[in-house]
Amino acid sequence: MSLPKDFLWGFATASYQIEGAVDADGRGPSIWDTFCKIPGKIADKSSGVTACDSYKRTKEDIDLLKSVGAKCYRFSLSWSRIIPIGGRNDPINQKGIDHYVKFVDDLLEADITPLITLYHWDLPEGLDKRYGGLLNRTEFPLDFEHYARVVFKAIPKCKHWITFNEPWCSSILGYNSGYFAPGHTSDRSKSAVGDSAREPWIVGHNLLVAHGRAVKAFRDDFKPTQGGEIGITLNGDATYPWDPEDPADVEACDRKIEFAISWFADPIYFGKYPDSMLKQLGNRLPTFTDEERALVQGSNDFYGMNHYTANYIKHKTGTPPEDDFLGNLETLFYSKAGECIGPETQSFWLRPNAQGFRNLLNWLSNRYGRPKIYVTENGTSLKGENDMPLEQILEDDFRVQYFHDYAHAMAKAVSEDGVDLRGYMAWSLMDNFEWAEGYETRFGVTYVDYANDQKRYPKKSARSLKPLFDSLIKKD
Ligand code: BGC
Repeated sequence: MSLPKDFLWGFATASYQIEGAVDADGRGPSIWDTFCKIPGKIADKSSGVTACDSYKRTKEDIDLLKSVGAKCYRFSLSWSRIIPIGGRNDPINQKGIDHYVKFVDDLLEADITPLITLYHWDLPEGLDKRYGGLLNRTEFPLDFEHYARVVFKAIPKCKHWITFNEPWCSSILGYNSGYFAPGHTSDRSKSAVGDSAREPWIVGHNLLVAHGRAVKAFRDDFKPTQGGEIGITLNGDATYPWDPEDPADVEACDRKIEFAISWFADPIYFGKYPDSMLKQLGNRLPTFTDEERALVQGSNDFYGMNHYTANYIKHKTGTPPEDDFLGNLETLFYSKAGECIGPETQSFWLRPNAQGFRNLLNWLSNRYGRPKIYVTENGTSLKGENDMPLEQILEDDFRVQYFHDYAHAMAKAVSEDGVDLRGYMAWSLMDNFEWAEGYETRFGVTYVDYANDQKRYPKKSARSLKPLFDSLIKKD
């Protein structure tokens, strides 16, 4: 038993991935509604139009959470349900607010602690149209702060807030590779707009400032009366040197994490971008004004960690191309000695390696002064799962093993390494819209039958977490 008594565990989801009901109760469109309509962007030509139909099935979802013993649930709000166009002078949609207020009440009634993500990639389309959305350094942070204030005021019962989910993905996948909405890239065969060498760094900066603004608003005007905590969720993979004997590969391992995580975490904990990034990107990385730095530095009550996989890292020599976002290195699944990082899954980027999780927890804990950490996402897809017969899908031993190994690695990071971990949320409560991969890639502990009224079938993994955490959490 090594996890603290009040350790929270449960599941995570995101609004656009599960809600559906895109026109219900006055919701405005988000950039993902628009992106999904562009031919070739989503693998199975799908969208979040129906998804898991969770907007209309809140009771069913809460019953599911209860039946598997979850203590907490992390979900995100659809900004364009609450402010359909998005901006601080635009109309507020009371029906959208009421929906989430009731959902939180119902969760609490079921004894499930809510953790709310304010932004999980579904920016109101209105803001992208009006001023270029995340690219706008002045307007975007102000509009985000306003939206956050509306929500803090409406849902005082929520005590755990996450501003942004994975700003790395919004910046790099949204504005460098164009793989995610709004699909900007320098590759003109994919998009008419975009500058992969500059836009992602601007977007990342604006997201940090918007985070800082929302946190200041929360701490000044809500936290003193309603309590609670707020932080950001960052994603990053673990790294191993491709050749452990080569100091340049060892160094590249840190650089890879700096380009993924410290890009955001260093400004939050230290008030500046990592030296490795400044060195490679020069003045393409925006400079913090004094006001911006004051907003961003010290703006985490906790560190939200999303983590899935690991890579071998091989350094590159020479000047990297302008659109490089990795830090002049290669990510590989095999080491120089031929060791494999982990078995294949359905996701091209994901191979389980639980030891990497423990290593990265230690890396973060050491660099950022032992912050309070919540693992806000961790999970896996399964090679070929979508094509298996239902009976086989429900016996997802691979996923059961993944959670077992990752939870044990995490428990060791706490009991043997002294990492301050407070919670763990498995991704995901149910199969859902896996962004550009559509519905073919499944991450759920619950199977969703999209062809038959979104019926839910808990897989073996859904029931495996309660005994797993019961065995790891101290009783008193
Ligand atoms: C995201 C989720 C996504 C999951 C699996 C995370 O990066 O936050 O929205 O579904 O990874 O790809």
